[in-house]
Amino acid sequence: MRSYLVTGGAGFIGANFVKYISKKHKDIRLIVLDDLTYAGNLGTIEAELKNANISFVKGNIGDPQVVSSIFEQYPIDFVVNFAAESHVDRSIENPQLFLQTNILGTQNLLDIAKKYWTAGKNENGYPTYRSGVKYLQVSTDEVYGSLGETGYFTETTPLDPRSPYAASKAGADLIVAAYAETFKLPVNITRCSNNYGPYHFPEKLIPLIIKNILEGEKLPVYGDGANVRDWLYVEDHCKAIDLVLHHGRTGEVYNVGGHNERQNIAIVRLTISIIRKLMEEHPGYRKVLKKQQPDAAGNIAVDWINDDLITFVGDRLGHDKRYAIDPSKITKELGWTPETKFEDGILKTIRWYLENQDWVETVTSGDYQKYYEQMYGNR
Ligand code: NAD
Ligand code: TYD
Repeated sequence: MRSYLVTGGAGFIGANFVKYISKKHKDIRLIVLDDLTYAGNLGTIEAELKNANISFVKGNIGDPQVVSSIFEQYPIDFVVNFAAESHVDRSIENPQLFLQTNILGTQNLLDIAKKYWTAGKNENGYPTYRSGVKYLQVSTDEVYGSLGETGYFTETTPLDPRSPYAASKAGADLIVAAYAETFKLPVNITRCSNNYGPYHFPEKLIPLIIKNILEGEKLPVYGDGANVRDWLYVEDHCKAIDLVLHHGRTGEVYNVGGHNERQNIAIVRLTISIIRKLMEEHPGYRKVLKKQQPDAAGNIAVDWINDDLITFVGDRLGHDKRYAIDPSKITKELGWTPETKFEDGILKTIRWYLENQDWVETVTSGDYQKYYEQMYGNR
């Protein structure tokens, strides 16, 4: 039985990965390590944690004792590192936390994996490792910087991070590459475009827009809304990670992208129109609208769900214009393609939010309101 250490497994992509991989491979052991920051929620993987082969450890990836004790207890074969501070806006407010978690945390994981996986030394003095082990770093296309109107990021595009978040992820990638070169540690790096899907924390564009619509709040669009992101359904990302982990060539970087570029304003308009249509076609959904009172006949109006909700607010500092991934390497080498069409994925995602308001309320019950006022109050 192979043992996987999945860090950040209570966050958005990590939790989707825990769900995906535990369904796909029955005979594996998963150890989820997560510090349960504002972005982590154990309830998201509650069902999975009932499985005797899936366990949870609360702790910081940067804590040598916590990580060592996991390697002492379990014969870890794979490390998949999702744990990170992941929100660009927060990185503008508090860059240091991003460097601590994303760079030093990654380095700590690498160090301990190296220690426990080392089997000996070769004739050139390099460590040799127990067979079949691998460290996979989950990275982002944001390390490549920002594109103009044309072109795509490939794996050979020079790193040119521009936000503190992107710089911290690029720093992490470089230390992973350094361990691969200096210590011959078996690694892969995946660099993915913007994910969307269930369990996405409502500080990121799509879930924040859905939440605000349901609450009858304005929909803040940064700048002119013309910035472009390349959206990928989260399960397609999980499939890519599974493929790279088991079949990727050791030491390689793989870009993962949806071939699905959209301007932010188009995403916001589409989300509005889908929610309105769903509410019109299935009046039962209207019960999740927070501020609407039924009229005398018991009807809840939905005609206010329209583009008038959009408000253009001050732009993000250093707002990257466009991201777009060329995923041809992972397609050619590993046969991966983005399977979920955006129109299907966004509909599934919105329905999920309409049907899982309990989850949204749970994850936003802490400091969310304070965060929202601080981030959007002066825009
Ligand atoms: P997220 O913010 O939803 O989840 C991050 C998780 O990491 C949370 O559960 C949090 O509690 C945990 N965590 C934070 N600091 C920790 C620490 N020091 N020790 C242990 N756990 C800690 O993030 P996400 O969107 O799921 O992103 C996961 C990974 O994928 C990140 O590395 C991110 O950079 C990368 N990524 C995200 C996207 C995207 O669109 N969301 C795209 C490309 C790459
Ligand atoms: P986000 O979801 O934060 O992801 P990232 O910055 O990592 O790409 O933002 C996606 C895009 O949406 C980005 O161009 C910023 C923009 N945006 C808004 O216009 N309004 C918002 O309230 C948020 C959170 C993001």
